[in-house]
Amino acid sequence: MVLLKGMLKGKKILLGITGSIAAYKSVYLVRLLVKAGAEVKVIMTPSGKDFVSPLTLSTLSRNPVLVDLFDEQSWSNHVMLGRWADIMLIAPLSCNTLAKMANGNCDNLLLAVYLSATCPVVVAPAMDEDMWLHSATKSNIEKLVSFGNTVIPVEKGDLASGLHGEGRMSEPENIIEFINTNFFLTTPQKRPLKNKKVLVTAGPTYEPLDPVRFIGNHSSGKMGLAIANELSMHGADVTLVLGPTQIPITNNNNIHLINVTTAEEMYNACMEHYKKSDLAIMAAAVADYTPLKKEEKKIKKKDKSLNIELVKTKDILKTLGEKKKKGQVLVGFALETFNEEQFAKEKLQTKNADLIILNSLNDKGAGFGVDTNKITIFEKNGEEFKFETQSKDLVAKDIVDTIIKLYYA
Ligand code: CTP
Repeated sequence: MVLLKGMLKGKKILLGITGSIAAYKSVYLVRLLVKAGAEVKVIMTPSGKDFVSPLTLSTLSRNPVLVDLFDEQSWSNHVMLGRWADIMLIAPLSCNTLAKMANGNCDNLLLAVYLSATCPVVVAPAMDEDMWLHSATKSNIEKLVSFGNTVIPVEKGDLASGLHGEGRMSEPENIIEFINTNFFLTTPQKRPLKNKKVLVTAGPTYEPLDPVRFIGNHSSGKMGLAIANELSMHGADVTLVLGPTQIPITNNNNIHLINVTTAEEMYNACMEHYKKSDLAIMAAAVADYTPLKKEEKKIKKKDKSLNIELVKTKDILKTLGEKKKKGQVLVGFALETFNEEQFAKEKLQTKNADLIILNSLNDKGAGFGVDTNKITIFEKNGEEFKFETQSKDLVAKDIVDTIIKLYYA
């Protein structure tokens, strides 16, 4: 990114700094923000002070650094601070402050300002990979998103622990580019998916045999959910048609959730919402066959063998491909175990998709049940985009970034 002098001229940024090694980068972040023309006020948590000195930050920001809700002489007006700012940016956001924000705790000034802020709140998490991937952290991040806060994705690289992985705070230049693009730019580059209607399918489908049994598959729904979350962070208006999943779902104002069980229910929901959609991403593992007959009563064990007649389900992606109108973008997945590339390319044709995202069960760390995935994106005009194995959240980011670059930039 080219950091232009005056790029953030007049913008008021309230920068929260919490207790994380990455706080050293906040010193440079303050310098860049000021250089870009922003007015910066810094709030630190008490443990943030253990990592960088308030004196350095007040010198660079040209404002006093605030830490305590009150001292002997005065009380910091946390409500006015939140109203003063155009954006409250918390960078780095530690695991502990994240958990407190997700639960509405208010035991320091930064948290009091967060809870009373009327401006957009943007956070740049920083932590070790194992902490970042912990389910508690994930659910806290989901909570923040459901509150309408924006999360700047973490980066992959060397970590303070000496390990290599995900959890690094985004670099200061990238943070500035992110807030500029998403909150301050007034050109069409600003939030390219804003007001775009996107239909996403995720999860497995269950095809009932009788009142107690079904035919299903191992899809967890994680990939489709990560895509829906990523789209919502870009301002898209998402309709998520979700098959039965064990993953807890949190409310997100930008995601309209439709729960379904069977392939037929998923088909019907998609047909209803596709007409109004600008983009559709079919990430669900839809059953290809369903029992011809669902028994009303439990099938009892009798003979040596049991034959169940299955009939083909309707192919949702293929049907959307047939109905696709000019301007609509259609994206499908291909989950393969052999001849991967050939089958993925064939699916581009047979389903009239614009993009097919291939994941192969032969790749370690890809496919069902795991938190990571490895994908290649095939574009209908022959372009290919290959990505390394990474968490499904980062894969979702690559997918959405590729779609924006190809169709909405
Ligand atoms: N798909 C769908 N409806 C179906 C079956 C699949 O919408 N009834 C979609 C999936 O969501 C995915 C794409 O089609 O985006 C490819 O799914 P996949 O299971 O890889 O392939 P199939 O079309 O089912 O073909 P096959 O099982 O022979 O590979």
